[in-house]
Amino acid sequence: MNQHMPPNPVPFIDIGAQRRRLGKSIDEAVARVLAHCQFINGPEVTELEARLAEFSGAKHVVSCASGTDALLMVLMAKGIGRGDAVICPSFTFCATGEAVALTGATPVFVDVDEATFNIDAASLKRGIVAAKKQGLKPRAVIPVDLFGQSADHDAIAVVAEAEGMFVLDDAAQGFGASYKGRRLGAIGHATATSFFPAKPLGCFGDGGAIFTDDAELAETLRSIRVHGQGSDKYDNVRLGLTGRLDTMQAAILIEKLKIFDDEIAARNKVAERYARFAAALKAQGIPTAIYYVKSMHQQTAYRDYPVAEGGLPVSEQLSDDVISLPMHAYLDEPTQERIIRAVRGAVSS
Ligand SMILES: Cc1ncc(COP(=O)(O)O)c(C=O)c1O
Repeated sequence: MNQHMPPNPVPFIDIGAQRRRLGKSIDEAVARVLAHCQFINGPEVTELEARLAEFSGAKHVVSCASGTDALLMVLMAKGIGRGDAVICPSFTFCATGEAVALTGATPVFVDVDEATFNIDAASLKRGIVAAKKQGLKPRAVIPVDLFGQSADHDAIAVVAEAEGMFVLDDAAQGFGASYKGRRLGAIGHATATSFFPAKPLGCFGDGGAIFTDDAELAETLRSIRVHGQGSDKYDNVRLGLTGRLDTMQAAILIEKLKIFDDEIAARNKVAERYARFAAALKAQGIPTAIYYVKSMHQQTAYRDYPVAEGGLPVSEQLSDDVISLPMHAYLDEPTQERIIRAVRGAVSS
């Protein structure tokens, strides 16, 4: 063996491994759509929504074109706009605050907990104070279940309820996770998720979904998804989007959902093995942490938006510290050992 050959690169997210596992079932699902030709609003879309409702425990599921649209559509349905404040963690993917800004409302950035990287309820309260001082009406909070870990939804609900705020959970990275025995999707007033290929449940393109127990909200979302269509399809009763999930993606997701529980268990095993590694590093005084080089309030487009009183020291610190490691359900133990050895080597040298 050539000692100087670089080792095969480890894929960050191994979508190919899942593709191999699912093989024919995906090909057949796609072939069925190609045969019936109902590429928009085909029967698979309704079937997927029913299966997602069953999986999550939410009463209504409205599939849509992306996780960003899922967030935006809920904010639009709630009539959130200019003069309103929506509180978001700063340490998140930009879509969380972007959806708020697109409605004309003001994202108010708050800090995260240093152990979970999720919204800190104390900072949420300070964000509400900051919003009011700016003459904004705090209408909603968007907790994010970052890196697959559920936010502290009970603590958030207490603060939100006291202020009469709507809770829109951003579960784009956490779909499949549970909080106190309930699946994400059945928590808060509405939940948005993404089916971007790298997400826990990903399709082969863009996609997303909204989960809610509120029948009226679900109906409004179905209208917004198709340009604000009313009961007469030529009478648009509100502003909307082309926000549909296409049938092909729905057909693919139906097949992927069948193995999702098994994948969650496999991911949890991978996470446990990394936790052992993290503990070993921690014992040596070396923190392990994860990404977002810049929190949202440090990014050019969001610099002028308000932040919670007292600043966001944890988000800023995490942005400096955090690295991420390969994480997917098909990461086998020898490969993971290789990653750990490489990290150990890098840290010790
Ligand atoms: C936390 C979070 N929110 C929202 C989104 C937006 O999802 P999409 O890329 O499907 O629009 C993402 C996706 O990367 C995300 O990580």
